[in-house]
Amino acid sequence: MTNAYKIIDHTYDVVIVGAGGAGLRATLGMAAQGLSTACITKVFPTRSHTVAAQGGMSASLGNMGDDHWNWHMYDTIKGSDWLGDQDAIEYMCREAVPAVIELEHFGVPFSRTEEGKIYQRPFGGMTTNFGEGTAERTCAAADRTGHAILHTLYQQSIKHHAEFYIEHFAIDLIMVDGECKGVISLDLATGELHRYQAHMVVLATGGCGRTYFSATSAHTCTGDGNAMVLRAGLPLQDMEFVQFHPTGIYGAGVLITEGVRGEGGYLTNNEGERFMERYAPNAKDLASRDVVSRSMTMEINGGRGVGPDNDHCFLNLMHLGNDVIEKRLPGISESARIFAGVDVNKEPIPVLPTVHYNMGGIPTNYHGEVVTLKDGDPDTVVPGLMAIGEAACVSVHGANRLGSNSLLDIVVFGRAAALRAAELIKPGSAHKPLTEEDSAPILEHLDRIRSAKGSTGTAQIRDNMQRTMQKHAAVFRTGESLEEGLVKMRDIVDSFDDVRVDDPNLIWNTDLVETLELENLLCQAQTIIYGANNRTESRGAHARDDFEERNDDTWMKHTLAWTDEKANVSIDYRPVHMYTLTDECEVIPPKTRVY
Ligand code: FUM
Repeated sequence: MTNAYKIIDHTYDVVIVGAGGAGLRATLGMAAQGLSTACITKVFPTRSHTVAAQGGMSASLGNMGDDHWNWHMYDTIKGSDWLGDQDAIEYMCREAVPAVIELEHFGVPFSRTEEGKIYQRPFGGMTTNFGEGTAERTCAAADRTGHAILHTLYQQSIKHHAEFYIEHFAIDLIMVDGECKGVISLDLATGELHRYQAHMVVLATGGCGRTYFSATSAHTCTGDGNAMVLRAGLPLQDMEFVQFHPTGIYGAGVLITEGVRGEGGYLTNNEGERFMERYAPNAKDLASRDVVSRSMTMEINGGRGVGPDNDHCFLNLMHLGNDVIEKRLPGISESARIFAGVDVNKEPIPVLPTVHYNMGGIPTNYHGEVVTLKDGDPDTVVPGLMAIGEAACVSVHGANRLGSNSLLDIVVFGRAAALRAAELIKPGSAHKPLTEEDSAPILEHLDRIRSAKGSTGTAQIRDNMQRTMQKHAAVFRTGESLEEGLVKMRDIVDSFDDVRVDDPNLIWNTDLVETLELENLLCQAQTIIYGANNRTESRGAHARDDFEERNDDTWMKHTLAWTDEKANVSIDYRPVHMYTLTDECEVIPPKTRVY
């Protein structure tokens, strides 16, 4: 049956899977350094989820006041609740400044100050002088920063002659004796399979927000690369840490940027109270996202939510005035009008904490190389495989990412991966031929899903998973609720054995693709909920009602989670890197977070 598939073969020096900001920065960097480079993407590059990033990209340019990358590093470590690797955080915060300048030179149309410098706004958790003041560090192109960056990086990739395979769904990695040798994709338009042999495969496939019912993530955010890594017998790291963005539009989940609060917007409850003043007297509405999301949830649970069911909060920006709104926040004004029926000049926006970002992902070092735990070495590099962007866990965000550190992460580590690949690969060097057996398991896998003739529709299983995750692995978690969720998830995963794919064709078969995506989501959902039950402490975005304190003695370590073919999870750990790369900064020892 599997030899019935037509396969088109390609060889490249490098293949990047995913054309969001991380994938495109790696693509252009690799192509510019003379490596033959292909980028495979399931959506047109400029429709990748980076296009939805609004508020900006952090970098201590100091255009609007004093700033220093040491302060940025301190904030990021504190924001991560001491689960971030300090060597990688140093690298990211130091490289942030040249990374933004490089983007400016590539052509990103940043907003400008009166003097013509890149405009920067305050964002949650970003401070000056090690927590003393408020930093204006987030470089913005109005509230469409991701859009501006993505389009520019795509243009640069084309300029450097990278080759694109657009609307191709990557099915699996070709792994031979523990090394990655390539990847196979399905061309959605023709139904043909493509096999790419490469010295390096770079996974830039984004997060898995769609494990949940309400997410700011696009429906395409199904963590396909993470699932490929699990199927390759490699672990994911820190998956229990899922960020809820405080301001998703109530009911629709659409993002309203933290930039609104950066420009002076604030949250209120049904008494009109600016409740963040109570929870975070210093940072107030600009506390980090985990803190704001928890505070909103406590207001709602305490009966002080707004609306007929007291189940959300209001975000107020009417007082900012039309000028600021038009100049700095045009995108969210439109989103609020379309998705909430609200004129932001006259009414507050109804908002609710909404799943936004996976801090966890594929473990890597700061060069983007995938690492695993092997023979006691937690930093064993997996040859031929890199991961970058939200798919990766470097780990620069630890237990909680600061807003605007994501656009930074994708650009810095996309570039780092390109630099590393150029060190490791001689352009045009020969490939050892692949055998048919190397690809056979991938074709069998595809064929099994394609011919699934059970009685349960994909949408039904997906809905069950998303509702279970939303309810049982929420902003606040308890052992009891997580255990209940684990039992439900076991049944849901098992129900996938009975999935039905109605459409047997290969051309534009969205039924097949959604089923492959669902399979990908299921194993990741398992790692999230299992990891959350396993971690008996509260840290960053992981808030356990039954273990309220952070416990550094037992839990200052990264979770590694593997799954078997039935999505059963097994766990081990990696140490957090409590060291720096240079002596230009110091290790920040764990402290209690004060807001
Ligand atoms: O609120 C925002 O604009 C989102 C930014 C981010 O997640 O970094």
